[in-house]
Amino acid sequence: MGKTTLLERLVPELTARGLVVSLIKHSHKNIDIDRPGKDSYRLRESGCKEVLLLGNDRWALMHELRGAPEPSLDYLLDRLQPCDLVLIEGFKHGDFPKLEVWRASVGKPTLAPDWPGIVAIASDAPLPTSVPAGLTQLDLADASSIAAFVLANAATRLARSAAAVSPYEPPDGAKLGLTPESIFTEALISSRQNILPRRLSEPGPSAAQVEQLFRAAACAPDHGELRPWRFVLVPASKRANLAEVFAQALLERDAQATAEQLAQAREKAHRAPLLMLVVACLGPREPAIPTLERMVSVGCAIQNILLTAHSMAFGAGLTSGQAMASPHMRSLFQLLAGEEAVCFLNVGTTSKRKAPRLRPDPVDFVTSL
Ligand SMILES: Cc1cc2nc3c(=O)[nH]c(=O)nc-3n(C[C@H](O)[C@H](O)[C@H](O)COP(=O)(O)O)c2cc1C
Repeated sequence: MGKTTLLERLVPELTARGLVVSLIKHSHKNIDIDRPGKDSYRLRESGCKEVLLLGNDRWALMHELRGAPEPSLDYLLDRLQPCDLVLIEGFKHGDFPKLEVWRASVGKPTLAPDWPGIVAIASDAPLPTSVPAGLTQLDLADASSIAAFVLANAATRLARSAAAVSPYEPPDGAKLGLTPESIFTEALISSRQNILPRRLSEPGPSAAQVEQLFRAAACAPDHGELRPWRFVLVPASKRANLAEVFAQALLERDAQATAEQLAQAREKAHRAPLLMLVVACLGPREPAIPTLERMVSVGCAIQNILLTAHSMAFGAGLTSGQAMASPHMRSLFQLLAGEEAVCFLNVGTTSKRKAPRLRPDPVDFVTSL
């Protein structure tokens, strides 16, 4: 896999996180995106400095250097429309963090020791020992981790420059700079969306990623350390059982349900690559933490999973409905007295995103005594 293939896989990872991504590529050949004989080519060759070509799907501005020196990267960046992140390919110089792609089969040494600005190497094999310590090593095949690294790196630079320009000053005068973590967290939280199972497809998270999701759940605030939540995975081999529960629950509510409605109910059990039931444990326990507080802990555990899945570029969403309270559901999941089925948590690859939801304004839900 070369640079372009990596970029081709990286860009969807970044856009899936809700970012607007642009790219500047430096080709060291005499490139021409126009073709001799085309009207635009002829007009350009007649002596125009710039030709702007507009078609139905895109426009392109061609600027003739005619022997003038190559423009700087800053100049080119200024030509781009506003966006969240610019990927730069083929520029050897310039003050920006660089990611080297190194493949053992090419048989060349890495650039990293001699090339300023290289902060990480994505490779398909263990790196030679000549590589300086402290460089981040990334798996060339793992575009998701590379995207996470790129974002964290961009957030760090953004935070440094933002903190230098406008440190946030709270009323008490204590100085609080923006940190990479705060920028990353804000971006992660604000770009999360509920992705319904019909928009989720394979692949789902790997076993290691599923483990990470549950480790995130375990970090939920938990008054009294009761762990008032548990999760029950529904593997492929048990989806048919769940489908029957959905169908039975529908028949309980509507004995006249049509075959088509029953098929739709069953189908819900088969959509998301990763499916789990969220169970709230609300029975009597010591210490006697109120139900309300336990449900807050359940919600936090759920949100930790949703955000972690989102950070891995998976889509995730919650589904519930009247079947949650059905005795068939309780029986399939062997719920104990005091346990309640809260909702299903679905995770997979987002096939289609919906438009971002307008979030409520804090002025509408924050008051002061
Ligand atoms: C406990 C719970 C159950 C939910 N069940 C459903 C559901 O059955 N169907 C659905 O479309 N959304 C369900 N949602 C998701 C909300 O509809 C969604 O979070 C809300 O529309 C806000 O959208 P957002 O998460 O993209 O901001 C559920 C959310 C929670 C907290």
